[in-house]
Amino acid sequence: LFFFLLNFISCELLVIRESLKKNNLSAVPSNFLFGTASSAYQYEGGFLADGKGLNNWDVYSHKPGNLIVDGSNADIAVDHYHRYLEDIDLMHSLGVNSYRFSISWARILPKGRFGEINEAGIKFYNNLIDGLLLKGIEPFVTLTHVDFPQELEDRYGSWLSPESQEDFAYFADICFKSFGDRVKYWVTFNEPDFQVKFGYRLGIFPPLRCSRPFGNCTYGDSEKEPFIAAHNIILAHIAAVHVYRTKYQESQRGSIGIVLHCMWYEPISNSVADKLAAERAQSFSINWFLEPIIYGRYPREMQNILGSILPEFTTTEKQKLNQGLDFIGVNHYTSFYVKDCMFSACEPGPGTSKTEGFWAQSSQKNGIPIGEPTEISWLNVYPQGMDKIVTYLKHKYHNIPMIITENGYGDVIKADSTIDELLHDEKRIDFMDRHLDALSTAIKKGANVKGYFAWSLLDNFEWNSGYTARFGLHHVDNKTLMRRPKMSATWYKNFIAEHRKWK
Ligand code: NOJ
Repeated sequence: LFFFLLNFISCELLVIRESLKKNNLSAVPSNFLFGTASSAYQYEGGFLADGKGLNNWDVYSHKPGNLIVDGSNADIAVDHYHRYLEDIDLMHSLGVNSYRFSISWARILPKGRFGEINEAGIKFYNNLIDGLLLKGIEPFVTLTHVDFPQELEDRYGSWLSPESQEDFAYFADICFKSFGDRVKYWVTFNEPDFQVKFGYRLGIFPPLRCSRPFGNCTYGDSEKEPFIAAHNIILAHIAAVHVYRTKYQESQRGSIGIVLHCMWYEPISNSVADKLAAERAQSFSINWFLEPIIYGRYPREMQNILGSILPEFTTTEKQKLNQGLDFIGVNHYTSFYVKDCMFSACEPGPGTSKTEGFWAQSSQKNGIPIGEPTEISWLNVYPQGMDKIVTYLKHKYHNIPMIITENGYGDVIKADSTIDELLHDEKRIDFMDRHLDALSTAIKKGANVKGYFAWSLLDNFEWNSGYTARFGLHHVDNKTLMRRPKMSATWYKNFIAEHRKWK
């Protein structure tokens, strides 16, 4: 047993040491944010605790026939609402200097702007923020991460209505006022590109609207809805930024940005058509939001393809749009090959109509996906994608500060997975190691990157995958909620410590 243990421990150390050696830590600036990321619905639990209202995911996850694979919900999730102090201790022992979390809108405003502020909700986030600061961990706050108060959904249909802009700005104002003396990093939205595709096109996220019949979604009569929802989100972002800039920035001196799901799209060949297709894919995802917010207009490709389907900005809106963020939040996990198939059949693309064109991408080249496939269907390991996407954004948006707001590796838990297997997550270490290496390459070439957040501190509720897909640096036992560090937690801790030594 002794030799077994010795061998086991030295193997672990070897993996950790090897990966630390390879990384070019000296390129990473000393004030770099190293953190872990989370979101309210995926972590908090505290379902209707202390006056919290229902949000759209509370309702969806309780609805029979939803698409959550293990029939679970996040009523308890990882009970961060009650265990946040323990979780702060875990972060502290990792040595991170920042924590990205989101605020549950319905916990603060159960009825949106039509009701009272829930003071118990304010108190929870005050406690969380104070607890973090006490341990030298900077709060990095997303205002809303997918969840939306059900009360407002029922009233006017969430992001399809311009009323959502006013509600969001009102909510943002309360958050800046209540927490902005201590919070210096704000994010308005998390991955709105995916949120609108899933919620208003594919019908797999609430409010389950779809442009083609699927499951039990509500069939929208046009192809317009994702673009209307996105338009309202862009204007809601701008409204919140405007509130911050005019009422709080001078005294609070923080910065504000938006987080996009930044996949890397690699042209499948060197042909001009495939290169243009890859650019088009970026236009219909990240540039859809970033070009209006930074340059005051939708990407040209979108305008050409969509014509009158794409909503327009008024002159006053355009004025507010310019320079509407301080940093770009980059969630980067994966890459895909793209081939040109806009107006012709594209295997295995789902369709060929005008607005469907941007979905018609192929992730396979000669039957091989880009990089290495994983157990998670959308996750290909292609670390060069990190360097490529960051470099792409650097050129496209004149090197506005970027923060890697999420990057991480997921495994799919099986009925016979043993705890030992789950804790020995070499693949996650390899993933983070290679992505951080690619990131330092981009930084070395001049990319203005200010931080990196691992998704995620803990295993948590992964939307329609329920608790089956696990991205944590710590394992969470679903029954006891006990947290246990995986090997990757030790690796990340050593990585951060090593970085400090270099500085
Ligand atoms: C990005 C999303 O922001 C987060 O909510 C999700 O859990 C991770 N990707 C992993 O899929």
